[in-house]
Amino acid sequence: MDPQKKISKIERCSGLSENEFYNTYVKNSVPVVVTDKAEWTSSEKFTPEFLKSNYNHLERTIDGKTYTLSEIIDLCKASTPENRAPYPNIYDLNRDFPDYVKDIPLIVYGKSNRLFSRLLLNTFAKRTNQRQLFFGGKGCSFPILHIDYLGVHTQLTQIIGEKDFILYSPDQTPYFYPDEVLRNQSPVNINDPDYDKFPLFKNAEAITTTLKPGETLFIPSGWWHTTYIHNFNLTYAIDHVNAYNWNTFMDEIYLSAKQNHPNLAWIIKGYKVIMGRAFNFKESLLN
Ligand SMILES: [Fe+2]
Repeated sequence: MDPQKKISKIERCSGLSENEFYNTYVKNSVPVVVTDKAEWTSSEKFTPEFLKSNYNHLERTIDGKTYTLSEIIDLCKASTPENRAPYPNIYDLNRDFPDYVKDIPLIVYGKSNRLFSRLLLNTFAKRTNQRQLFFGGKGCSFPILHIDYLGVHTQLTQIIGEKDFILYSPDQTPYFYPDEVLRNQSPVNINDPDYDKFPLFKNAEAITTTLKPGETLFIPSGWWHTTYIHNFNLTYAIDHVNAYNWNTFMDEIYLSAKQNHPNLAWIIKGYKVIMGRAFNFKESLLN
């Protein structure tokens, strides 16, 4: 793993080649906003009106009350910081919007996304959030400062509205006090930190960026983050595992297997090495 490059702001880029993306951002664990890879977001199929008339059969139960998609959209449109819509309203693209599967590319830079390879055991791939749509409204915020589960990278494309992302580099982990069990979540409320309880949080330095429609944010594995929403909002998110975070991903799978099947977990260590080599070889043929 290359040492992490210190950055003070998130670059906005266009015209990146796959290799530039990998060598500049993925390998250096640097987040980036790509501005020219999501023209599909301007399709009329992603307007609230189209979604309401074609997908109103989708239902979500929140706090014991069931809502149709139209009701969720209206709640998000009416959301205010004082009276926020529930968040996140997550829909699985493959399950809930099968007609959209072909409209949305698997990933912005995706030829090396091992989660979609037939070489990866389905049981591992299924543990990630593969393709999701998030609805939200003004004042909504992801409630917990966290690292995405299993050490995946994430690519988030804004379809409607604007969303702030607040990110912290992985080397700042001690400032967030994750515990042994919830290693990817911080107990610190970053909007109102309790410095008596979490004094090291005073040292934390956030980098923020606002994602606009048609833009994609790449969050590398291990970056702490949370979000804040300014208006009616729809975001597409996809998890990403490639050569850079393969070992982290498989080590996380190993740790959870060790808890449930301590006698069999060693198989995953072997799988990590053998399949890591197989993926590297396959990907070297593509470059
Ligand atoms: Fe996340």
